Amino acid sequence: MCGITGYIGDNKTTDILIDGLKRLEYRGYDSCGIAVVDAKNALYLKRVSGRVDALDKLVAQEPVKGAQSGVGHTRWATHGAPSEDNAHPHTDCSGRVVVVHNGIIENYLDLKEKLLASGHKFKSETDTEVIAHVIEEKLKSLHVQEKAIRSDMLEPVFFEAFRRALAELKGSFALSVIWAACPNMVLAARMYSPLVVGLGKGENFIASDVSAFLKYTKRVVFLNDGEIAAVKKDGVDFYTFQGKKVAKESVTIQWDSTMAEKGGYKHFMLKEIHEQAESVENTLRGRLLPLGGNILKAEMGLSAEAIKSFSSVQFIACGTAYHAALIGRVLFENFGIPASADVASEFTDRAKLLGKGTLVVAISQSGETADTLFAVREAKAVGATVLAITNTVGSTLTREADHVLYTHCGPEIGVASTKAFLGQLAAIYLLAGHFAAARGALTSSEARSYAENLLKVPRLIEETLAQEKEIAKIAQGFASSEHFLFISRHVNYPIALEGALKIKEISYVHAEGYPAGEMKHGPIAIIYKGMPLLAVAPSGRALDLMAGNIEEAKARGAEVVAIVDEDSRKTVKASRYITLPKTEELFTPLLTVIPLQLFAYYVALAKKCDIDKPRNLAKSVTVR
Ligand code: F6R
Repeated sequence: MCGITGYIGDNKTTDILIDGLKRLEYRGYDSCGIAVVDAKNALYLKRVSGRVDALDKLVAQEPVKGAQSGVGHTRWATHGAPSEDNAHPHTDCSGRVVVVHNGIIENYLDLKEKLLASGHKFKSETDTEVIAHVIEEKLKSLHVQEKAIRSDMLEPVFFEAFRRALAELKGSFALSVIWAACPNMVLAARMYSPLVVGLGKGENFIASDVSAFLKYTKRVVFLNDGEIAAVKKDGVDFYTFQGKKVAKESVTIQWDSTMAEKGGYKHFMLKEIHEQAESVENTLRGRLLPLGGNILKAEMGLSAEAIKSFSSVQFIACGTAYHAALIGRVLFENFGIPASADVASEFTDRAKLLGKGTLVVAISQSGETADTLFAVREAKAVGATVLAITNTVGSTLTREADHVLYTHCGPEIGVASTKAFLGQLAAIYLLAGHFAAARGALTSSEARSYAENLLKVPRLIEETLAQEKEIAKIAQGFASSEHFLFISRHVNYPIALEGALKIKEISYVHAEGYPAGEMKHGPIAIIYKGMPLLAVAPSGRALDLMAGNIEEAKARGAEVVAIVDEDSRKTVKASRYITLPKTEELFTPLLTVIPLQLFAYYVALAKKCDIDKPRNLAKSVTVR
């Protein structure tokens, strides 16, 4: 969580830092700040409790001229409440060493105790502030007094103090640090939290992710854990935490910055819902035919022989990606391949039971989710092969996994995941199809029909989206409800979970997703007259039982909105219907989730919620 930026160059430093923070706000948005230094070593630091827009206004009232380096931060609170005092940047006692941080310093209480004992004064409740004081201590131990130091020694001394400070820190961190005495260098370091350097001409950038500076450069270098970047105007040097210089390759990012803008939609979430046909198309393109051949080998090194060799598949993921994982389990089991799906944060003991023959599939839009990364490390420690499904090139997950299958959805900015979920599903269907065909679970004509069903999905998504107005009307009718139930069965049960998660996240109402068959074992007791119940009931083997479960809920007063197709509509009796184009049952999740996303969106809109930045959340969850 939290977004950090850094800049050095001759352009408008404050504007660049603030613009970067606006693009990183999806990572956290409860407070923010920047600090910049000018060539005469004057430091300007501004922080606010609240959004980056407020910071922007504050800085505009007293513009800083001539700043040539600086750092910025947008926060998702971990230690200390969201407030101006706890907002980053944080400084040492002198107010000259300035730190922004994403992550958690696990030993901060020990460090703080020692620092307090040697006379340091703290101004915040954060773990981050200790870092500034530890650097201050290291500067002291190098016998540095800012005014007395030779100018050619500023950079080596700052670097060495920073490097020595890093050795004291335990936990996860991405750091961007300036020292007012040394405006010609910004230092950055990474340990378990994402950090990327952008390479410009006569200017360079630091950020938690590339969207912060894509407007200025697409040439980037991803830091690995245990690496430092010494960022100057005309170049960047990389080192290990031991101080050894490392040569690093830059990569060119294909996304452009307009892909991360709203394009006429009121919210990113709505824009991203509308981009789902394209997400599926892009994820499938060139990877589908022939199913079961060596098509994935060139891209991800997974040959048909390797695909045949796994004895089971274990999915791990969090949140919405976990719902994709649950559908993955159903698909693989459908083809007779043993599969399980676990929430990454609850995986710990299960990892020990993995055999070498297990393929672990870790699904993560960001590729930076700490729980997922931790579970991946545990799986690797017992010798499992890890395949990552992710949307983010260069993310930590891509570097830790043995194989990577990218979803090509473009940047997802709305905190509530939509198009990334469809991309994850497309990738899972693709993988399941290749596994099934390679292992003989699909004959060649069945494989062809499976591929045809998938290729139709983008068009069917467009047809589903055409019902937006109708869905909006139904949603508005329920805008004042405080409780919602979502039910389904079999391959759509995870969609019921996803429908409930979407509405919880962006409307702050209570919602439950249930396997329809479980309702009678307890949860049916919560139904009251008029309670909205969304039932996902397309044609297929689950339909008759679903129709019965819907009757049971109606008999207790539930107001049922049924997600059906033309055929299943004849079987299901509901007060309202959302009718989707028909496809085979196995493929229905690729469509049924869309009305639930739109439903959640329009309930949140009617409630005037902050849809793209819901309270208490952050897009990329880099803490455990
Ligand atoms: C919900 C949502 C989250 C994420 C979860 C995992 O809309 O976005 O539940 O799905 O935090 O994130 P990634 O996929 O980045 O690992």
